[in-house]
Amino acid sequence: MKYRVLVSDPLAEEGIDILKEFCDVDVNTGLTEEQLVDSIGNYDALLVRSGTEVTARVIDAGAKLKFIGRAGAGVDNIDTEAATRRGIIVANAPEGNTLAATEHTMAMMLSLARNIPQATASLKNGEWKRSKFMGVELNDKILGIMGFGRIGREVAKRAQAMQMKCIAYDPFITKERAASLGVEMVPLDELFRRADVITVHTPLIKETRHVINAETIATMRDGVRLINCARGGIIDEKALADAVASGKVAGAALDVFENEPPTESPLLGLDRVIVTPHLGASTVEAQKNVAVSVANQCISVLSGGAAKYV
Ligand code: NAD
Ligand code: MLT
Repeated sequence: MKYRVLVSDPLAEEGIDILKEFCDVDVNTGLTEEQLVDSIGNYDALLVRSGTEVTARVIDAGAKLKFIGRAGAGVDNIDTEAATRRGIIVANAPEGNTLAATEHTMAMMLSLARNIPQATASLKNGEWKRSKFMGVELNDKILGIMGFGRIGREVAKRAQAMQMKCIAYDPFITKERAASLGVEMVPLDELFRRADVITVHTPLIKETRHVINAETIATMRDGVRLINCARGGIIDEKALADAVASGKVAGAALDVFENEPPTESPLLGLDRVIVTPHLGASTVEAQKNVAVSVANQCISVLSGGAAKYV
């Protein structure tokens, strides 16, 4: 009998095709937790992106589940403890969307510096307001990179090409490693004090939740610009909204939010905040990469082998 796989978030065709060679595949997106609990018992594997919350209830209802795969970086929407208790292998695809998220960060930084989304909206609204949208140059500015992993390092390379000076904070990366990339490692409080633009590229964990808050924002340069294309919750949204409204923070670019979609966020009403609906990984190339990666890992595990990125 063929294994059965449920794909509960949109997954690129290239991944589905690999799965279909060995398994029966159902693509059923937008399920509620209740609907997932009701149907998961029929499946040997579950593949998700960031939309599906794979809770302990879902996992406990998956009597036949052997594999849960996340087509993206991290497993923060999967209850890994519940999966481990049940002996289910959880894997992700951490490398496939690195460049997509990097390029999105660069697009956000340039848009922020030159008010491109606001100017586009204004012109399309029939206005011609050249002085309203005076920008700043990134050349010679200091970029503070919090989290110097895959994406943080790729962002540094591109920022250096624009003649920015990069400083970074990451407790798990040595000064020597960073120096070999022309980046100065500094303590976090120094990064906050010195940077003209701060971009976060850490996971959301206890140590990073609300690490950018009213108190730490007060230590930053007046007119600092903040970017979050990592995870909602790293920046305290209420504190950021207050700081943008007061002018302490000149602008912010956010791809991720504490609650997604962020219908209640005070940030949405602020002109100097630009936003995208969690698009960091949304390129044709990245979606193909992550879909192929989790599909291959799924087949490997169902055939008694190992997953590459557990
Ligand atoms: P990564 O694991 O390669 O890098 C994360 C880095 O954060 C590591 O070097 C780690 O040492 C560092 N870190 C851990 N704790 C830290 C702390 N307390 N302070 C500072 N640094 C700390 O991950 P990545 O692939 O570079 O991804 C970075 C973030 O971007 C993750 O949160 C990931 O989920 C997110 N992401 C978002 C999108 C999107 O669609 N917006 C797409 C891909 C990745
Ligand atoms: C992420 O890591 O944020 C996800 O890969 C995003 C996505 O699935 O689009």
